[in-house]
Amino acid sequence: TVLILDFGSQYTQLIARRVRELNIYCEIHPYHSIPENLDNFKAVILSGSPFSVRAEDAPHPNLSNIRGKLPLLGVCYGAQYMAQFNGGSVEPANLREYGRAKLSMIKPGEVFFEGIPENTQVWMSHGDTIEKLPEHTVRLASTPEVLNAAFKFEGEPTYGIQFHPEVYHTTHGKQLLENFLVKIAGVEQAWTPAAFVETIVHALKEQIGNDKVVLGLSGGVDSTVAATLLNKAIGKNLYCIFVNNGLLRKNEFESVLHQYKDMGLNVKGVDASERFLEALKNETDPERKRKAIGKAFIEVFDDEAHEVTDVDWLAQGTIYPDVIESVSVAGPSVTIKSHHNVGGLPDFMKLKIVEPLRMLFKDEVRRVGKELGIDPELLGRHPFPGPGLAIRILGDITAEKVRILQEVDFIFIDGLRKWGLYDKVWQAGAILLPINSVGVMGDERTYEKVVALRAVESTDGMTADWVNLPYEFLQEVSNNIINRVKGVNRVVYDISSKPPATIEWE
Ligand code: XMP
Repeated sequence: TVLILDFGSQYTQLIARRVRELNIYCEIHPYHSIPENLDNFKAVILSGSPFSVRAEDAPHPNLSNIRGKLPLLGVCYGAQYMAQFNGGSVEPANLREYGRAKLSMIKPGEVFFEGIPENTQVWMSHGDTIEKLPEHTVRLASTPEVLNAAFKFEGEPTYGIQFHPEVYHTTHGKQLLENFLVKIAGVEQAWTPAAFVETIVHALKEQIGNDKVVLGLSGGVDSTVAATLLNKAIGKNLYCIFVNNGLLRKNEFESVLHQYKDMGLNVKGVDASERFLEALKNETDPERKRKAIGKAFIEVFDDEAHEVTDVDWLAQGTIYPDVIESVSVAGPSVTIKSHHNVGGLPDFMKLKIVEPLRMLFKDEVRRVGKELGIDPELLGRHPFPGPGLAIRILGDITAEKVRILQEVDFIFIDGLRKWGLYDKVWQAGAILLPINSVGVMGDERTYEKVVALRAVESTDGMTADWVNLPYEFLQEVSNNIINRVKGVNRVVYDISSKPPATIEWE
């Protein structure tokens, strides 16, 4: 295992993902809670940070259990930290250095830079610069602007780099991490999806034994992969519950339920559409809609879970980004939207929690899913929000509006598939607006609903940009929607990025 100490950089998770792409397992821990027992760790990486090492409140961890004992790589802040507190000096850079740079000097014969050519492109993002290196260090690389772009301490496997190897724009970043972790630290590259499946299935068997487990399936990637792993480990003692809240995509409940049964999962489909519609009646406020859905879900799920006698465990499809304890740099963050499904367990369900995916990133969940033989179409599904179409119908929700939106959404998504665009888009859907507009059909004046189409590119939903879909495609989809969906006479395309907009309209 590789230990990544987080100093609050926006890139810390990216370091972890790059390391894992090398088939090396790693964990992120905040700089202020370094694990006491370091026996399992084979190397340590210090992340960047929004702080300046010169600031009084800058992170100041004690690295005495690490320095010289384990191979150590400081990135950006991590490098500056080691320079500043070992007799070197860090000063404000004349210019804030942000963006691409070239390593114009690389010291020859260093394993650290093996296979990396001079003038390779690196990504810089820092306001401070290392003016003077500590004693007993060797400069390994420079750029035209940054003299001390990389250095090492003599006689120990401790390195510092000013640039960010984890960022895509650092052309040989992965090679550099491999040089450090494999050639210098001797870490094995054995962490593959197959190895993960073997280890986790074994661990789940040990953890759960003959106990019973309930799990809520959603049709999404995470819950499906979690269920498949548990099914492999404990078989029929896994009780899956798939709730139809009536706010899913057209035909989704039936087809996905069918698919789950074909996969050999012990699954019960529960159609609670009426109950959700009732809970949402006359509700127009986005947050209250989410809360009403969250509450109804918990009630339905709890009723169903009680049908299983002597259940001990609740399984959840939690993934690593939800688990990582983030290093807060700007105080507690404000709630923009309350995602109902990350709220945790209601007290009255006094079950133990099992989370088979809690150490995986999303792309790793997909790779594990592939290893398990799950249908690629299911694994490649766009994310879909827990409250479903309810947050895409602005204003109050009725069965008729749900039906209209399901039809519109179906034509849009089906069109994306037919045009080979589905996999190029990170998420897509339609929004039913709470206004009517005037149109003309034949000789008749119409006064009907407007729908907006939304398609975005993103990596994690935190930021997103609208997709430049071909005009011909938009034209065809718009025609199909207006001609086929009764009650809609106008289609618009949303060209807002996030931020400042969000992906969903509510
Ligand atoms: P926003 O609208 O905040 O959405 O830009 C970011 C991502 O989160 C999804 N989303 C939700 N997912 N429950 C969910 O499970 C929710 O309440 C919820 N709200 C937004 C959204 O679909 C997008 O992928």
